[in-house]
Amino acid sequence: MEKKIEYFETPGGENTERLIELVKERSEELGIKTMVMASVSGESSLKLAKAVPDAKIISVTHHAGFRGGDELELNPEFQEELEKRGIPIYVGTHALSGVGRGISNKFGGATPVEVIAETLRMFSQGVKVCVEISIMAADAGLIPTDEEIIAIGGTARGVDSALVLKSAHMNNFFELRIREIIAMSRP
Ligand SMILES: Cc1cc2nc3c(=O)[nH]c(=O)nc-3n(C[C@H](O)[C@H](O)[C@H](O)COP(=O)(O)O)c2cc1C
Repeated sequence: MEKKIEYFETPGGENTERLIELVKERSEELGIKTMVMASVSGESSLKLAKAVPDAKIISVTHHAGFRGGDELELNPEFQEELEKRGIPIYVGTHALSGVGRGISNKFGGATPVEVIAETLRMFSQGVKVCVEISIMAADAGLIPTDEEIIAIGGTARGVDSALVLKSAHMNNFFELRIREIIAMSRP
C-alpha cells in the first residue's frame, strides 16, 4: 500500500489550513467521519467544522487550571459557535500527564506516562497530542474504539499533525493502533 505523508518544515499554527485540507482528502478517501481535534480556544475545531461540515467532530480543550487559576482557555465566541453546530467540547484530565504531572512537579523526575508522552514527541508534539486526545475522547464515550478515526493535534497553537488511528481506553492504552500518518511537522 502506498500512501502520502505531508511533512511541514516547521511546527505550528501556520500549517492549520493545509492540514485541514489533507484531513478532508483522507477522510473522503477512507470514508472516516469521526474526528477528534485538540483545540484549546475552539478556533481550529471551528475551522475543521467549516471545511468538513458532515464530519462528527469532538473538540478537546485543556483541563481547567492548565495555566493556573480555575479558568478554561476556551474562547466564548468559538465555544458558542461549536455548540450551535452540536460539536461536543471535551474537558478532562489529560491522559498522558494526569496526576503524574502533579507528582513530578512536586517531587521531580517523570512518571511512566510522561515518558510515553515524551517518546511520542519524538515524532512531533502533534503526534503525542493525537494519541492523548484519542484516549480521552474514548474514555468519555465520545468516539468508538472498534473503528478508525482521524485525530488532529498541533504545537501549542493551531494544528500540524494528523493520524488515522484506532483508539483505545486508558486501561488498554497499548491497544491503540496508529494506522496512518496523514501529516506531521518535522521535529
Ligand atoms: C489535551 C491537550 C494536550 C495538549 N498537549 C500539547 C503538547 O503536549 N504540546 C503542544 O505543543 N501542544 C499541546 N496541545 C495544543 C494542541 O496540540 C493544539 O496546538 C491546540 O489545541 C490548538 O488550539 P487552538 O485551536 O486554540 O489554536 C494540547 C492541547 C490539548 C487540548
